[in-house]
Amino acid sequence: MKNKPIGIFDSGVGGLTVLKEIHKLLPKENLIYLGDTARVPYGIRSPETVIKYSLQCAEFLYKKGIKLLVVACNTSSSISLDVLRKNFNIPVLGVIEPGAKTALRVTKNKKIGVIGTEATIQSKAYPLKIKNINPDATVISKSCPLFVPIVEEGITEGNIADLIIERYLREIKESGIDTLILGCTHYPLLKKAIKKYLNNINLVDSAEAVAQDVEELLKEKKLLNNQKSNAIKLFYVTDSPDRFKKIGEIFLNFEIDNIAKISLEQEGIIK
Ligand code: DGL
Repeated sequence: MKNKPIGIFDSGVGGLTVLKEIHKLLPKENLIYLGDTARVPYGIRSPETVIKYSLQCAEFLYKKGIKLLVVACNTSSSISLDVLRKNFNIPVLGVIEPGAKTALRVTKNKKIGVIGTEATIQSKAYPLKIKNINPDATVISKSCPLFVPIVEEGITEGNIADLIIERYLREIKESGIDTLILGCTHYPLLKKAIKKYLNNINLVDSAEAVAQDVEELLKEKKLLNNQKSNAIKLFYVTDSPDRFKKIGEIFLNFEIDNIAKISLEQEGIIK
């Protein structure tokens, strides 16, 4: 059981920020990643569609014999976590709770900002989770739809990034928050530019936070992998492996090999 892989899925390439943090913290763990590149973005879709897609991605990974499922996508974590937990008899971790808990640990004035896709912000998953843990907290939310495409274009610093950051985050900057959750897989790549604009505001990277939860959960369930051989990292995509590799390597800072294109229809998952 310990040697079984951890399954990680995302709507596309962005979840590699989560894979990177898990790999950094737990280098002995075998990892299988699925990027649903044929249907990205999830962030503009209805809750029903996000749930349907998430169940299909989870089924693909489940059939690979994973010991734990990590939902790297904030949009999917916001909307489909409960359904996934009901449908699969393995532990399922999303990014919302780890991000919320970390923000509450870091904030001094209990005023927290959250940025994410339209679907994540509309779901109110972050404010609900934060207030559930600490009802005294105030949460200010903002969707930042242009952040995903600019990161995928490799624009993470410079004039264009600065202008878009200012446009989305001016209100947040003036709102008196002392902590901001980067509630989308792509936003950690903009961390430097966002930090420059928001100076003293703490930035919470939900990718880092979820990696710590993965470690805790595996320890608790005595499922940590202590293999001597090198860990395996396998990547699957539902479309365009070359594009995934090119952009993914910007996210990861290491080379992606072991990549395969799969079809959810051929796998019998989409009927
Ligand atoms: N992975 C998504 C998220 O974290 C961003 C990209 C998308 O909209 O699918 O919300």
